[in-house]
Amino acid sequence: MNSPETFYVTTPIYYVNDRPHLGHVYTTMVADVVARYHRLKGDDVFFLTGVDEHAAKVSDKAAENDMSPQQWADQNAAAFAEVFEKLEMTNNDFVRTSSDQHKTKVTEYVAALLKSGDVYEGEYEGWYDAGQEEYIPENKAKAQDYKSEVNGKPLVRKAEKNYFFRLSKYVPALLAHFEANPDFVQPDARRNEIVNRIKEAMDVPISRTGSGGWGIPVPGDEEQTIYVWIDALFNYLTYVDTPERQKYWEAGAVHFIAKDILWFHACIWPAMLMALQKIDGYDWVRLPQQVYAHSYWVSDSGQKMSKSLGNFLDPEAIDNYVSEFGLDALRYFLATRGPLGTTDSQFSADLFAEVYNSDLANTFGNSCSRVTNMIGKYFEGKLPEFNHRDTEAQRDGMGKFLQDEVIDAVRCYTGDDIDGYSIMSLDELSSPGLHLVRLVDGYIEQTSPFKLAKDPEKMPEVGTILYNCAEALRIASVLLWPFIPDACEKFWERIGCDYAQQMADNGGCGKLSEWVAWGQLKPGTAIEKGDALFPRYQVK
Ligand code: MSP
Repeated sequence: MNSPETFYVTTPIYYVNDRPHLGHVYTTMVADVVARYHRLKGDDVFFLTGVDEHAAKVSDKAAENDMSPQQWADQNAAAFAEVFEKLEMTNNDFVRTSSDQHKTKVTEYVAALLKSGDVYEGEYEGWYDAGQEEYIPENKAKAQDYKSEVNGKPLVRKAEKNYFFRLSKYVPALLAHFEANPDFVQPDARRNEIVNRIKEAMDVPISRTGSGGWGIPVPGDEEQTIYVWIDALFNYLTYVDTPERQKYWEAGAVHFIAKDILWFHACIWPAMLMALQKIDGYDWVRLPQQVYAHSYWVSDSGQKMSKSLGNFLDPEAIDNYVSEFGLDALRYFLATRGPLGTTDSQFSADLFAEVYNSDLANTFGNSCSRVTNMIGKYFEGKLPEFNHRDTEAQRDGMGKFLQDEVIDAVRCYTGDDIDGYSIMSLDELSSPGLHLVRLVDGYIEQTSPFKLAKDPEKMPEVGTILYNCAEALRIASVLLWPFIPDACEKFWERIGCDYAQQMADNGGCGKLSEWVAWGQLKPGTAIEKGDALFPRYQVK
């Protein structure tokens, strides 16, 4: 049995210069699936997402719209919160960097770093990517032809008096950390890029001037505000820096991000935490467990989907997918066909429909209907008795009993394999569930209960077959729940399982290892047919 863990998972906090789009939904959805999976296992999970407000592009956009930065941020923060809520994300809190909780803590951290000497005053001149709110080192800027790597706009030359963080001092410790923790940054290819860049890291400015008061002031110097990136990174800590929540930080955060913001998360952030750690009262501060940098969703033309490029799927387009296919379908598609690895994924409506039909309508949905329908037809909607292995006809095409196959498959997937799964294999996390469903389909073909049912003497055998099918589908639905929770919960109701209630009563936690054990459905239970969980999609 897997023992419960404390688990902390985060997403980037998103800029509120504009409304949410598919890219933001993607990272949050992936983190949500992972959070749900851990809760299903019984872990004590904290899942954090939210918004990043103090960016210059937020105050610029506000000015264009004759609003104060706070009004503009309020409006878009609400749009993000609303989309996430509509998509049934199970985040435990929602960060706003303009909240008092965040501002007070950031001020405290920066004051401590000023005092310890790891933040100092200096002068900075360099190439600035305004879209990314990021200084680009000379050699990198040159390699990019002095244009933004992300939106292609020219970099701007900028000079300012700043407060700096002594990043260079932490280079040896960072490299040692990467060496000792090969999984710290995933996927591997991303880690290698970062390690090479860290070797050349110089001190970085952590403040800016001329923000018009939009931001958190540098403690002791009201003319400067804390650079938005430093302000933002601290969110992961500020929202769990309370006596009740500190355990989540101590457990080791898993940060989901995309590759565009890896440098901040894999270099600057751990170095700042190392600097903080050495200060009195911050000995509980540790480094995150993992920074997972996925790739991009790209549009048909292969360009990154983004707000500045205007080629993203906006909340209305996302709504359309949800109303056409259901929320589970969107969640399933994003989580299993997204750019988790090092290659970008193209978002295509055709592929979406294909995956929906093949994995959800024709596999899980169809198998659930078939089995509940036959129980309705042959056993008046009552789960039949399981009459042990009394006949060869119960073997599948491989000559194995379904029960044995399911038990073997579950053992293989929920044993150490799943417990120690790497996030990279999130799509593989969905496959055990589907695999069981396919076993059921093959078993039905092989045993043909619909033919046996023509002979009254064979009814005990038909009963056993259908019991086996229902039981295997029950286990499959437990494994699939993090991906398609709505459909699984509907199915549980139909087969008389109160898992959703148990989770609700148990602070959202499930009992994965107990629920995937064979033989828990009780013969005689009323089985409801219900409508199709995933009606087949007809390509228009
Ligand atoms: N505010 C910063 C992050 C601060 S975190 C301490 C920021 N915000 S953002 O609004 O630009 O969001 C960037 C993140 O959105 C990416 O890291 C990724 O998680 C997600 N995505 C944005 N566009 C995306 C795609 N086209 N594809 C996949 N993910 C995308 O950067």
